[in-house]
Amino acid sequence: CGIVSCMGRPNETLETLMEGLGNLEYRGYDSAGVALGPDLEVRKRAGELDELRTAVSADPPAGDFGIGHTRWSTHGPPADRNAHPHTDESGRVAVVHNGIIENYQAIRDELEADGVTFTSETDTEVVPHLIARELRRGSDGTAAAGGSSSIDPADAFHAVVDRLEGSYALCATIDGHEGIFAARQGSPLVMGVGERATYLASDVPAFVERTRDVVYLEDGQRVELRPDRWTVRNADRSPAEVSIETVEYTAEATGKSGYDHYMLKEINEQPDALRQCLSGRLDELEGTIEIEELSDLPAPGSVHLVACGTSYHAAMYAATLLREAGVPAAAHLASEYATAPAPLAEDTLVVGISQSGETADTLTALREARARGARTLAVTNQVSSTAARECDDVVYIRAGPEIGVAATKTFSSQLVASLLLVEDLVDVVDDLDPLIEALRDLPGAVQEVLDTTDAREVAAEISGSDAFFFIGRGGQFPVALEGALKCKEISYEHAEGFAAGELKHGPLALVTSETPVFAIVTGDGERARKTISNIKEVEARDAPVVVVTDGRSEAARYADLVLEIPDTHPLTAPVLANVQLQLVSYHLANDLGRPIDKPRNLAKSVTVE
Ligand code: G6P
Repeated sequence: CGIVSCMGRPNETLETLMEGLGNLEYRGYDSAGVALGPDLEVRKRAGELDELRTAVSADPPAGDFGIGHTRWSTHGPPADRNAHPHTDESGRVAVVHNGIIENYQAIRDELEADGVTFTSETDTEVVPHLIARELRRGSDGTAAAGGSSSIDPADAFHAVVDRLEGSYALCATIDGHEGIFAARQGSPLVMGVGERATYLASDVPAFVERTRDVVYLEDGQRVELRPDRWTVRNADRSPAEVSIETVEYTAEATGKSGYDHYMLKEINEQPDALRQCLSGRLDELEGTIEIEELSDLPAPGSVHLVACGTSYHAAMYAATLLREAGVPAAAHLASEYATAPAPLAEDTLVVGISQSGETADTLTALREARARGARTLAVTNQVSSTAARECDDVVYIRAGPEIGVAATKTFSSQLVASLLLVEDLVDVVDDLDPLIEALRDLPGAVQEVLDTTDAREVAAEISGSDAFFFIGRGGQFPVALEGALKCKEISYEHAEGFAAGELKHGPLALVTSETPVFAIVTGDGERARKTISNIKEVEARDAPVVVVTDGRSEAARYADLVLEIPDTHPLTAPVLANVQLQLVSYHLANDLGRPIDKPRNLAKSVTVE
């Protein structure tokens, strides 16, 4: 989703907001809206931004300042009622929000018990209702704080934000009040400080044509924009110290937030993407993992997973987890399953994993399974995609829009969503607490890989080789395949992934001093020991060995080059190893000058069989 707000361009408010929304187009669209003040007017529409453009040109809202939003659904289908800004019943408060409010159900129950009627299926709608209630309490003298007879809009806003749990960047405006309020917790929000006007947005491109002086807001900070000033406060209301930075932006780089390629940007977005994926699905206090959407799904007797490309690798990982939990499961290439489906039992669940939810091969496989009477479930990034609509159940991975053709953050999110799904359906591990802890820490661990990686140096070292091989076992086998797929997709170099144990049964004939072998070795168990033996086999053929390791085994001793990952749970280690391999492929391709975001012959979503 994208947020944009503007204060201080009284004659150009609508134009500035629409321009900002247009500049945030790369963040994805399925609905958009604006609210202008101080005499609050809201316009919103499902669909492309053009739908909103048509609506505002037919009936332009007037105002001196305003807030705007482009939605990319994570809850509830794209529809006018689910588009932002959301308002309370009297239309007194308008709110735009990016993120997920985790305690919205409890707040919604409380408000409904109070007689409030909701009009959308979003988590966001609780916010305007709460603010409106706070303001009402002030005016009818029932405010908790000292029973004051009128409540300051800023106090009402702070009191409401104090109650919210989860991740949010939000902006609010109140009818009759010359101000915009904003808060940030776990979702991006930047402030642009122009000479005449101040802006708030999810990302700098929204206002980069108007100012390059920005304040990167921090979690917990809250902002108030008034016609003559702006203030930033901490959650405890104390004034926050902020610094204004001047950003260098080329028009070309805008949608990429300053990164050279969408792929690199999306690799770097993985901590946020994983936070979104995990949001509301881990309960540390209760020690449970639960996917709300699946409360009615019975534990399956067996599972078939169908997918293509990168998503197939996520399917392999999920199948490995299920088998380890004692559930018969197999990953199938969707194109093969479509014409030769595996036999179904009455309690077989067929899971389609697809970032886009539109891949023709995957849809055909799922339809075939349904026609044979199977219950189907989609794991996808796209709300309202065909897979999401046609399957009996759906789990959203919530990675946010991915533009680079090579899947990166969606793969990480598919791995994590698969792990949550499998744990929700059957018990993968006996002791859940260490897994919950590892999942909670995973976004931070990915950030650590991003901050400390030697992938660029490794790529430079091995560039110019004849071919690249990748090996792994268990949960790291699909990561080896994915490492090779990423490498071939974007660098056009020959790359192959193998189960580590299979190398000696044929592929070893290809191994020479000119074919680096990436070996993923995590943990210090049987798999690690066996993979170390395979490393020795390739070393004996003079191949350069790059080990991706958490340092638990002695694998690094046999390596020419090492890519380290933080120590984590065995089930989350594949996510971290994969980030290192994504970065190696990226730098390899970048050094070769390849068109990384749009590799030749490939499409993001393949809708033909
Ligand atoms: C295309 C893309 C791949 C992707 C595959 C499956 O081939 O180029 O990157 O992995 O489709 O896409 P899906 O949307 O079903 O995950």
